Amino acid sequence: MAPVVVITGASSGIGRSLAFSWAKRGARVVLSARGRDALEGVASEVRAAGGDALAVAGDVTVEEDRKALCERALGAYGRLDVLVNNAGRGYYTPSIEIDPAELEALYRLNVVAPVRLAQLAIEPLAATKGTLVMVSSIAGLVAAPRMGPYASSKFALEALAMSLRAELSSRGVRVLVVRPGPVETPFHANAVVTDDNVGYRPPGHKKQSPDEVAEMIVCAVDAGRDVLETSLFVKTASLAARVAPGPMRWLSRRMARRSGF
Ligand SMILES: NC(=O)c1ccc[n+]([C@@H]2O[C@H](COP(=O)([O-])OP(=O)(O)OC[C@H]3O[C@@H](n4cnc5c(N)ncnc54)[C@H](OP(=O)(O)O)[C@@H]3O)[C@@H](O)[C@H]2O)c1
Repeated sequence: MAPVVVITGASSGIGRSLAFSWAKRGARVVLSARGRDALEGVASEVRAAGGDALAVAGDVTVEEDRKALCERALGAYGRLDVLVNNAGRGYYTPSIEIDPAELEALYRLNVVAPVRLAQLAIEPLAATKGTLVMVSSIAGLVAAPRMGPYASSKFALEALAMSLRAELSSRGVRVLVVRPGPVETPFHANAVVTDDNVGYRPPGHKKQSPDEVAEMIVCAVDAGRDVLETSLFVKTASLAARVAPGPMRWLSRRMARRSGF
C-alpha cells in the first residue's frame, strides 16, 4: 500500500521539495504550513504532476492545529508511515542580547512542536513500523557567534531525537535526524535577524538546493538510517566538533573577534 507521509513546513524550501520527492515515488503526502494559499498551491502542483496530496493549513505551535493535522491525515488515508518535522525558523542575535519572548516563540516552533507532533503520531507510526524525521541542522552540533538562539533550539531537538530513538526502538519506529548545512531557501529571509555577521564564511561555501536535500532525506528514510548529514561541509564540521573541540573553540573565538566582539 502507498505510504502516507506528513510533512510540516511544506509550502516552501526543503518541505516543498520533500512533497515532490515523495509524491513522485507514489507516496500520499499530507502537507502542513500556515499560509493556506501557498500550501494549496504546492498540493495542486503535486496533483498536476500525478501525485496524491492533501493540504492541511495550520500553525504547528497551536495544539488544536497539531491535532487537526494528525486527524485529517488519518481520516483521509487511515495510516501514517512517515512524519517529517521540518517546519522551523532562525533567530540570529548575540546571545547576550536575546529577547526572552522571541526565544520562547522560537522554541515553541523548533522544539515543542516537533515533540508534540511526535507524541500524537506515535501510535499510527508504531502500527506501520514507520519513521519520525527531525530536520535539525549543523547548528544542532556547532554554535557559531550570533547563532546561540537558533543553535540551542536545534541542540535541544537533537537530544530529544536521540532519546526518542532509544525509547521507540522496541515499537519499531525509526528516528532519522537530518543535518543540512546552508540550503537555497527563503529560510534566512524568514528568520528573525538582529545581527548575523558571523565574521567567517567557510572556504568553498556553497548552498545546496532543496531538491537535492529532499532526495537525500527520502533515500535515508528508505535505507533506515539514523542520521543524515547532507554535505561535505556538514560532515567536516560535525567530525571536527567531535574530535577537535579545542580547535573549534579557538575558531569560534576568532570568528567572534573578527566580527566585532
Ligand atoms: N535553509 C537552510 O539553510 C537550512 C539549514 C539547516 C537546517 N534548516 C532547517 O530546515 C527546515 C526547513 O527550512 P527551510 O530552509 O525549508 O525554510 P523555509 O523555506 O523558510 O520554510 C519554512 C516552512 O515552515 C513553515 N512554517 C513556519 N512557521 C510555521 C508554523 N508556526 N506552523 C507551521 N508551519 C510553519 C513555513 O510556512 P508558513 O510560513 O506559511 O507557515 C514554510 O513552509 C527548518 O527546520 C530549518 O531549521 C534549514
